[in-house]
This record gives sequence, structure tokens and C-alpha cells, in this order.
Amino acid sequence: MITVPVSLGDRSYDVLVGAGARHRLLEVLPHGVQRAAVVTQENVGVPVDPGVEHRTFLMDEGEDAKCMETVEELCRGFARWGLTRADVVVAVGGGVVTDTAGFAAAVYHRGVPVVHVSTTLLGQVDAAIGGKTGVNLPEGKNLVGAYWQPAAVLCDTEVLATLPPREYASGCGEMAKYHFLGGDGLEDLPIDERVARCVEIKAEVVASDEREGGRRAILNYGHTLAHALETAGRYDLRHGEAVAVGLVFAARLARRLGRIGDDEVERHYRVVRGYGLPDRLPAEAAPGALLELMARDKKALRGLTFALDGNEGVTVVHGIDAGDVMAVLKEMQSE
Ligand code: GLY
Repeated sequence: MITVPVSLGDRSYDVLVGAGARHRLLEVLPHGVQRAAVVTQENVGVPVDPGVEHRTFLMDEGEDAKCMETVEELCRGFARWGLTRADVVVAVGGGVVTDTAGFAAAVYHRGVPVVHVSTTLLGQVDAAIGGKTGVNLPEGKNLVGAYWQPAAVLCDTEVLATLPPREYASGCGEMAKYHFLGGDGLEDLPIDERVARCVEIKAEVVASDEREGGRRAILNYGHTLAHALETAGRYDLRHGEAVAVGLVFAARLARRLGRIGDDEVERHYRVVRGYGLPDRLPAEAAPGALLELMARDKKALRGLTFALDGNEGVTVVHGIDAGDVMAVLKEMQSE
């Protein structure tokens, strides 16, 4: 088992990565906890034993379940059961479960501890780590949320074998981004070490900028175009697949802006293709509409903003000319 610490002062915690990590639940529960509210979904199918009195709260499947109504249902269920701040919420599932249950834990009784048992690759390398919790509104994704650090995270790599192939591929898209955030040689590591290295990279970034005053936004490398592709809603792309296209786009934009050369662009293609992920814009993509969506990205505080590779690695760059973005989109579309 690999232990990766997330150093955040009195909110520090460990992430345990490895086969069977879910069986370590009892030992990572906060000291003195009496009861555990286990939040999961029917199809997650990963039983856990918290080792204390517990009750399971099922939430619906799919991204639509990541909503205020679910948070209300969970909190009402916790209240009817009599959950207190001396107890714990245990979220078992992928990003939809850990984001929603994490947010319910953040607001129920103004905050009860939460432990995440992450069961998807995407969750293990991204969603479960770093304390971002929240839900969607009809007006947009993740518009309501809170920073609420878990008391511990268990990344059980044994359960990854049961993921549907496209679900696994989606996690690979998030994994691919870490190759450019200090993860050289990730491809040579076995899965446990690879997940742990991604967690380590994320933990270092989160420790340096927990509330995304600046640097944490590099974790969104490849995500600006990915979010636009997802928001457009017309393309058959999972999140990680959209991130893969976004990584290639970001590399090509960085080259156009003179920040990196051909070799680095090639490295992006190699990594993305190495995971068997898409590296092209969907044939029917409309560059104008994508540009408009990217300009509306909630992280675009000062004009068009992208995390871009360069001499100092990936950094957040503001005020990018719309003409350059359009040119790269059109270039990619014509291939
Ligand atoms: N998923 C990006 C972050 O946690 O900041």
C-alpha cells in the first residue's frame, strides 16, 4: 500500500493507494467516530465495512444526480438517522458520489468529517483528492460547492479492473495531463505507483494553493476546451476523452504562441495516443461555438484563459487572443 500525504496544516490527510485499500477504512476513520453514513450508488457495487455502526444511503446514478435535490435528500436522511458531528460520512464511488456526498458532509451540521473510497480511475487521480466538493445547477456544472477536505482517501486499485472500458479511458485522460505537470516517466510505472504519483503531484499543487488563488488552476490543463466540448453536449466524448483533445489543443496553442516547439507538441500526441485516447476535434465541431463557450468558462476571469506549457512548465496564461484560439481550432478541424 502506498501512502501519499496531503499537507494542509490541521486539515492534512493521507491518501492510501493500492489493491484492497477499501479494507483499511476502519483505521482511517477519525478518532472516536461512533457511526458512519455510507453514501453510494447501486451500480458502484463496492461493499465497504466501516467497522462501526453504519447505514447506507443510496443516491441515483449519473451526472444528473449531482444536484441540490440529492444533497437535500442525503442531509434529510442523515438527520432522520440522527447523524452528528462526532460521526462520519463515507462516500463510496466515482466523482459524482464523492463530489455530492462531500458537499453534503460540508454543509450538514455546518460540516461533518468525510472519508472518500474512490472507485474510479478518474476519481482516484483527481476528483477525490483536494477537497473540491459541489453539485451542478441547471445553469451550469459545479456552480454550488465548498472546499471540504476529507479526513482520508482510499484509492482501491483492485476495483479498477471492473470499470467499463470507456470509464477507464476517461480516467486515463486525467492521468495523461499529469505527464505535463511533472509526471515524466509515468508510462513506465505499474498502475498502483502511477495512481500514487498522480496523487502526489496533485497533493503538492493543492498544498501550495488550496483555494485556487492561482496555481491550482494548472490542474485544469487541457480542460478549457474539454469543458466547452462537454457543454456543447453534441459530441460523444467522456470527460477524460475531451481532456485528451484539450491537451493536444493546448499544446498546439502554446506552440502558436511561441511557448513550446514541435517536439513538445509531439510529446502531447504521444502521451494521448499511448493511452488510446482521441487527439482530434470531433468532425462536426464548430470552432466559433467552442470559442464562445471557452470565453464563458467560469475560470476565465481576465479574458480567454488557458493553462499552457512553456519554459517553466504548465502555467496559467490570461488574455489570449481569440484569433489565435480560432486559428488552432480551424487547423485541427481541417486535419
Ligand atoms: N480538478 C481540479 C482541482 O481539483 O483543482
